[in-house]
Order: sequence, then structure tokens, then C-alpha cells
Amino acid sequence: MEVHGATALVTGANRGIGHAFAVELRARGATVYATARRPELIDIPGVQTLRLDINDPSSVEAAARRASDVDLLINNAADTAGGPLVGGDLAAIRSTMESNYFGTLAMIRAFAPVLARNGGGAILNVLSAVAWSTVVGNTAYAAAKSAQWGLTNGVREELAGQGTLVTALVPGLVGTATLYDFARRHGIDLPDGRVTDPVDLVRLALDGVAAGEVEVLDPLAAEAKAALSGPPRAFAL
Ligand SMILES: NC(=O)c1ccc[n+]([C@@H]2O[C@H](COP(=O)([O-])OP(=O)(O)OC[C@H]3O[C@@H](n4cnc5c(N)ncnc54)[C@H](OP(=O)(O)O)[C@@H]3O)[C@@H](O)[C@H]2O)c1
Repeated sequence: MEVHGATALVTGANRGIGHAFAVELRARGATVYATARRPELIDIPGVQTLRLDINDPSSVEAAARRASDVDLLINNAADTAGGPLVGGDLAAIRSTMESNYFGTLAMIRAFAPVLARNGGGAILNVLSAVAWSTVVGNTAYAAAKSAQWGLTNGVREELAGQGTLVTALVPGLVGTATLYDFARRHGIDLPDGRVTDPVDLVRLALDGVAAGEVEVLDPLAAEAKAALSGPPRAFAL
């Protein structure tokens, strides 16, 4: 779909990859609803800010009513701190599943009729290469991303009839504060030249949407997907 002239809604636009999406969408000539749980933190000129918690059904419904002109939905927001599956805190494990899977699903269910009324449009879900492997220290998050990948494939089939493109953005390592904090806490030296800049990632993603692609992978994600034909292995950090 054409990004110039589109009306986009971005979840989690106050920081990280979501912030980069909102900035790049504006630069490409889209109208942008930049949403966040705390919209007062959004500092991007020229966007419409909206309070939105994807885990809160009334907040999601209100956003769908307010942003009734959306034809490009960017599901970026997620709780990325699931921790370990066996010894970890069950509330954290549920929280990462709640936002990645049920929150993304709630957004799609609320906005599918909006997109249909606006000509079909597109949905882009921000997944992760860990959906195809796992990541030591954050296995619960990886499992939630696997569920979100399955969700993405399912809704793509269900929404094809109304002309909605459903694109999976699958990054490996993206240079946001959240990634650097995780690496510092776990004593991980991130490999040189393997961390994608958020700005480069969102450009790749929007080029993919413009080209009608159903999956957009950065180089690490392409490696992770190719490795699926072999035995399971953890995502190498
Ligand atoms: N960074 C990476 O290496 C990497 C790699 C692959 C995939 N990803 C994916 O990329 C996306 C963004 O990652 P990031 O690194 O930019 O993360 P981030 O900087 O931690 O940002 C996460 C965003 O999601 C928001 N959020 C969390 N739960 C929410 C909820 N219930 N409702 C609304 N907003 C909520 C956060 O809002 P608050 O500020 O209110 O907490 C924040 O804006 C995630 O889906 C992540 O899984 C990241």
C-alpha cells in the first residue's frame, strides 16, 4: 500500500521502535496517530497523540472509535520482559503473553472493521527472530513472540478477503534502550555490526509494506528462519 497519504496508528510510540515508526511515517507524508499508555511522553511534531493501553479493552475500543480513518495499523507495543519460563515470575510470563498476543489480537479485532471501511489497508505486527528459536534469560518473551507469529499468519488469512495486507516485521537485535539494558543486566557483549538501528529497521519495514510484502526480515532474522530446517537452537546473542 502507498504510505504517503496513509493514515497510520502506531502503538507504543513514546520510545524505541514505535517512536522511530511515528517519526518515519510523518517523514513519508502519512497522517499519524502516535499512541502510548502515557501520551504526554510523545515528543514528535505533527502527530496526533492518543492514550492507548493495548491490554485494556475499553482503551482499545475508544482508540478504534477515535481513529476511525486509520488504514495502516502498526502493532509495535509489547512487554518484552518475560524472563525465564521455569524459574521465573508467573505474573511476568503472563504479562508478556498478554501484550504480545492478546493485546495485538485486541487491536486487530477492533481495527479490522475500520480497515475494511477504509479500503482494506494494512497491518504490520512487530515480531522477533526469537519467535523462531528462543533466547536464554527471556524464554517467556520468545514463546510469546512465537504465539504472535502464529496469530499474524492466522489473521492474514482471515483478513485477505477484505483486502487487508498483514505484514510481519521480524527483527533480530534492534538498538533500543531496552535491548542495551537487557544486554548489560545479563553481561552480554552485543556482536559488532549485528544490531540494527531503529531508523533503518522502520525504513525497511515501511518499504516492505509499500511493496505488499507479507514478511520483512533483517539479516539476523533471515538466519534464524533458515535455521528452522535444522535442530532447535537458542538465538545467539
Ligand atoms: N529491541 C529489539 O532488539 C527488538 C528485537 C526484535 C523485536 N522487538 C520488538 O519491537 C517492539 C518494540 O521494541 P522496543 O525495543 O522498541 O521496546 P521498548 O523500547 O521497551 O518499547 C516498548 C513500547 O511498548 C509499550 N507498551 C508495552 N506494553 C504496552 C501496553 N500494554 N499498551 C501500550 N503500550 C505498551 C511501552 O510503553 P511504556 O513506555 O508505557 O512502557 C513502549 O512504548 C516490541 O514488540 C519488541 O518485541 C524488539
